[in-house]
Amino acid sequence: MALPKFLLLCVFVLLGCSSMASAAIVEHTFNVQNLTIGRLCQQQVITAVNGSLPGPTIRVSEGDTLVVHVFNKSPYNLTIHWHGIFQILSPWADGPSMVTQCPITPGHKYTYRFRIINQEGTLWWHAHVSWLRATVHGALIIRPRAGQSYPFPKPHKEVPIVLGEWWNASVVDVVNQALATGGAPNDSVAFTINGKPGDLYPCSQNQTYKLHVQQGKTYLLRIINAALNNQLFFKIANHNLTVVAVDAAYTTPTVTNVVVIAPGQTTDVLLKANQPVGSYYMAAHAYVTTPNTFDNTTTTGIIEYEGSNSTAAPIMPVLPAFNDTPTAFTFYSNLTSLEFCPHWVPVPRHVNEHMFVTVGLSLEPCGANATCQGINGQRFSASMNNQSLELPTSLSLLQAFYGNVTGVYTTDFPNNPPVTFDFTNTNLTNATSLLFAPKVTKLKKVKFNSTVQMVLQNTALITTENHPMHLHGFDFYVLAQGFGNYNKTRDSKKFNLVNPQRRNTIAVPDGGWAVIRFTANNPGVWYMHCHLDVHLGWGLATAFVVENGPTPSTRLPPPPKDLPKC
Ligand code: C2O
Repeated sequence: MALPKFLLLCVFVLLGCSSMASAAIVEHTFNVQNLTIGRLCQQQVITAVNGSLPGPTIRVSEGDTLVVHVFNKSPYNLTIHWHGIFQILSPWADGPSMVTQCPITPGHKYTYRFRIINQEGTLWWHAHVSWLRATVHGALIIRPRAGQSYPFPKPHKEVPIVLGEWWNASVVDVVNQALATGGAPNDSVAFTINGKPGDLYPCSQNQTYKLHVQQGKTYLLRIINAALNNQLFFKIANHNLTVVAVDAAYTTPTVTNVVVIAPGQTTDVLLKANQPVGSYYMAAHAYVTTPNTFDNTTTTGIIEYEGSNSTAAPIMPVLPAFNDTPTAFTFYSNLTSLEFCPHWVPVPRHVNEHMFVTVGLSLEPCGANATCQGINGQRFSASMNNQSLELPTSLSLLQAFYGNVTGVYTTDFPNNPPVTFDFTNTNLTNATSLLFAPKVTKLKKVKFNSTVQMVLQNTALITTENHPMHLHGFDFYVLAQGFGNYNKTRDSKKFNLVNPQRRNTIAVPDGGWAVIRFTANNPGVWYMHCHLDVHLGWGLATAFVVENGPTPSTRLPPPPKDLPKC
């Protein structure tokens, strides 16, 4: 049914004047420590914040300043990233290890301090070094500032739903072993909802997340995919969900019975408890299209209506098949942004930098006299425009930029792939001449306030795959997406320049492409990478160096005194 256009715009009620005095300083302390917890019939040592998994939920209002004192009492190097936060003039607080800071070494601390402006909704925080984010993560919820409201009816309750991934091993050992052999890391053994695997796994009867609801009431579920290496289908038996925001940007309300969510993304949905009193499973399993093995287990939680007989078995939803790309694409491509909402900005029309960037897997030579466990006896790697990023070891990229230190990175990241080929042709999957990508530290430098358009093109090298590409420091608009090779003449006609979805992480379709556009209005060094940690470690990344602007208020501030040293 077609709704009148005005109903799809942001209907926004301003209750009185918003007072400037409402902005607050919100302060937290993160004690990061190893601890032992029981899961899946065994005891496992994990690294966690303040003894909990997921870690603490941070709640702020738009306009607030967040101050987090991080004490690293773990045996590992550590940093924390505030995923999706713009970090306007606070790039020193962004967090990716060796990009904006050297890591906090064991026994040391660092205070992250930044203001949250012009964005509201669900974001999250996570460790940004090695694979520690598997267990070092939590929700970061930004409410409208005092006097302002959501562009949808106020929900009865708000509930973070943090989806995670679990190994019966130390995740640092898992990734280090893979990096040593050059092969693929071991698959996880479970997924989790708010830290709990759910009752379909062994020894997990008491490890099941439960949400109690009242019939007739509406709940805002703030779903976060904190899994390391898997996109997930998420469904609740017999209930529809209304998507109202993704990646902390409001969307045109969209009704669906299934959500697909990539690592890094968030999806806010309204759940109306409008079914007969009873209990219903929420469930999630992987969305995977590669021919490799993968974690094919299902995590569950239970939605229990008040007054239901809790001895009856909950109703189970039927999840899509693991490789159901049509369902994933329908969900991802149906979303549009809600025009004229708070913090909405029109799509920039004039593009300064046109980039065409291939994303996919590649190889790195194993080295003389050695055999590696990637294909053809080589090491697995991954790349953008055939450049596989290698991070510096003695100075972060941002420190090098700020201090004009040469020899740490170069600014010749190419605007186009070095060779043009039939990118998604699976007959070229093993084309040796295309498979090897050099290990480099090539970044893309852009002028302050320039508008960048990037076509992200998946390749079939080794295998096609849906890569969730995340940009630090900015939201971007997703103008169009499709399958096969991007064709400018044909596909630029499909651009939505009116109300495209706004995101910080785009799941580039498997064997396909997506076009994104953003304005680089914040000086600093901003990481861009695949949010599957296995690919990030293999080098599927680059970074934007955004130059200073013309005025004092558009220039990089000096680093805080306690910025960790390498
Ligand atoms: Cu959520 Cu660079 O990451």
